[in-house]
Amino acid sequence: MPMSDRDTSARKRSHLQLSLHEDVGFLQRTNGLGRFSFVHDALPELHPEEIDLSAEFLGFDLDLPILISSMTGGTEEATVLNARLAKVAAEVGCAMAVGSQRAALESPEVEETYRIRDLAPEIPLFANLGAVQLNYGYGVDQCLRAVEMIEADGIFLHLNSLQEVLQPEGNVDFRNLREQILALCHDLPCPLLLKTTGNGISRRTARKLVGLPLAGLEASGAGGTSWARIESMRGERDHYRARFADWGESTAESVQAVRSVLPDLPLVASGGIAHGDEVAKVLALGADLAGIARPLLQAAHRGEDEVREAFRILTDELRISCFYCGRGWVGDLVVEDLREGGNSASTAE
Ligand SMILES: Cc1cc2nc3c(=O)[nH]c(=O)nc-3n(C[C@H](O)[C@H](O)[C@H](O)COP(=O)(O)O)c2cc1C
Repeated sequence: MPMSDRDTSARKRSHLQLSLHEDVGFLQRTNGLGRFSFVHDALPELHPEEIDLSAEFLGFDLDLPILISSMTGGTEEATVLNARLAKVAAEVGCAMAVGSQRAALESPEVEETYRIRDLAPEIPLFANLGAVQLNYGYGVDQCLRAVEMIEADGIFLHLNSLQEVLQPEGNVDFRNLREQILALCHDLPCPLLLKTTGNGISRRTARKLVGLPLAGLEASGAGGTSWARIESMRGERDHYRARFADWGESTAESVQAVRSVLPDLPLVASGGIAHGDEVAKVLALGADLAGIARPLLQAAHRGEDEVREAFRILTDELRISCFYCGRGWVGDLVVEDLREGGNSASTAE
């Protein structure tokens, strides 16, 4: 195996271990959802069991408005974790994405670690690569290989500039990426989505996305997993990098920024979402789906039944939130269902 291939796999392993066993959350910064509480409808005229939690995303019908966000692949442990997540995703009817497939493009022998299609034949499934790789020799061919490798329905390209610049081995040439993404949108015969990785999306970034024919966007905001914190834990000499651990637009701010500029773009909100009432809040703020990463990874590490249990609780919390607001379908949640302040069903802040 060439050196850079070993580096990619070793990095994957260390990211996974740190995410599973260390506190890699934001320090003070929260997902911003605690700023909001739900407006009560005392006469809901609903039976909670009849509340419809289904959603539509990119033409796919989902039973739950949730995406298991891009996380893993490339290591033996990842095979097990991806399989547990995929099986439960198929049972509950949510969408799922795998982690960056660069490791598999560099070393085809790890392709298996990403393959979950047989376990979840019906779910919308998404491939993943770093957008910056477009400046390091990747293009439509690599994206297509990533999609075909896992029989995906589309691909997320991640924008992770802070993480790259904090990595000693990071790929930091982000010049002219918008142009490259624009060309790829035209050349790629499947849905192309962009995502962030926990530092969020500002209005300024959202404005730069105007005019890109993206299939969708995952605004992954601050408040959950801090990649700056993870990177600062990797190098003995680099603890000062923890200084950047709390940087980012919160998840709530990111959804609001995107919606103010791109009202109709299919949107996933992620970053620090661990409860069903937080799912309800991002939907009310205008997201189409909520994305959840590390909390589900930790559940998967404990076992498949733990993932099942995590989804049971998420679903119940989401249903109760809709019932409280008098909404018979999650898609009916609107910003008027939230008020700033109060602390009704909020868990963050
Ligand atoms: C172990 C781990 C690995 C991740 N790997 C990727 C990745 O390869 N590609 C990507 O786009 N995002 C990756 N992410 C970021 C998540 O998709 C998500 O944006 C971020 O963790 C925030 O969500 P959370 O607070 O629910 O963890 C990873 C997250 C975790 C925890």
